[in-house]
Amino acid sequence: MEEKRAASSHTVMNELVLPNDTNGFGNLMGGRLMYWMDIAAAMASSKHCNAPSMTASVDNISFKNPIKLGNIVHIEAKVTRAFTTSMEIHIQVWGEDMLHQYKYESNEAYFTFVALDPHGKPRPVPKIIPETEEEKRLYDGALRRRQIRLILGGKMSPAEANELKALFFGTTI
Ligand SMILES: CC(C)(COP(=O)(O)OP(=O)(O)OC[C@H]1O[C@@H](n2cnc3c(N)ncnc32)[C@H](O)[C@@H]1OP(=O)(O)O)[C@@H](O)C(=O)NCCC(=O)NCCS
Repeated sequence: MEEKRAASSHTVMNELVLPNDTNGFGNLMGGRLMYWMDIAAAMASSKHCNAPSMTASVDNISFKNPIKLGNIVHIEAKVTRAFTTSMEIHIQVWGEDMLHQYKYESNEAYFTFVALDPHGKPRPVPKIIPETEEEKRLYDGALRRRQIRLILGGKMSPAEANELKALFFGTTI
């Protein structure tokens, strides 16, 4: 299967925060933002594998700054690394105040999507080619993040997590 550039999956999505998207403080609801992040991740992963894909897991999301009513939500998604049938997608979110013309960080997160065949079963995905320094940094960290989430999801035993063992103990034994 032909490898693909990480940049090919780059997805940009914008939304305007309307009253129905907000909580009692006039800020964007976290759940609404996670819904939009999931859609951006789905578009990035499907661009990479040219197939339908499904959310397998979402790593922890910490909200740094609330996004205000009337502001723009700017979401960028890109596949960091592809494994056998799964892909890790990095999401970054900013708020944008159009009146005062400034952008502020909201949060970032990692989503894992699995490519599906016509029978709804996991199917192989192309490997990824990281090109920029940032893409290479994210690619290198993806194995460790994958091992953490598979251990937490009960899909891997800590004894198998060689990347993590090397990180903490400097050895894979
Ligand atoms: C995601 C799902 C397809 C995986 O199916 P499965 O039978 O566990 O298949 P496998 O064990 O072969 O795993 C397939 C891939 O998913 C990955 N995976 C499974 N569970 C995972 C988890 N909790 N976190 C991260 N990756 C996970 C595996 O590591 C594997 O990746 P790889 O092929 O690149 O090594 C299945 O668990 C599922 O359908 N879950 C529900 C998804 C859903 O409803 N999403 C929200 C609505 S869209």
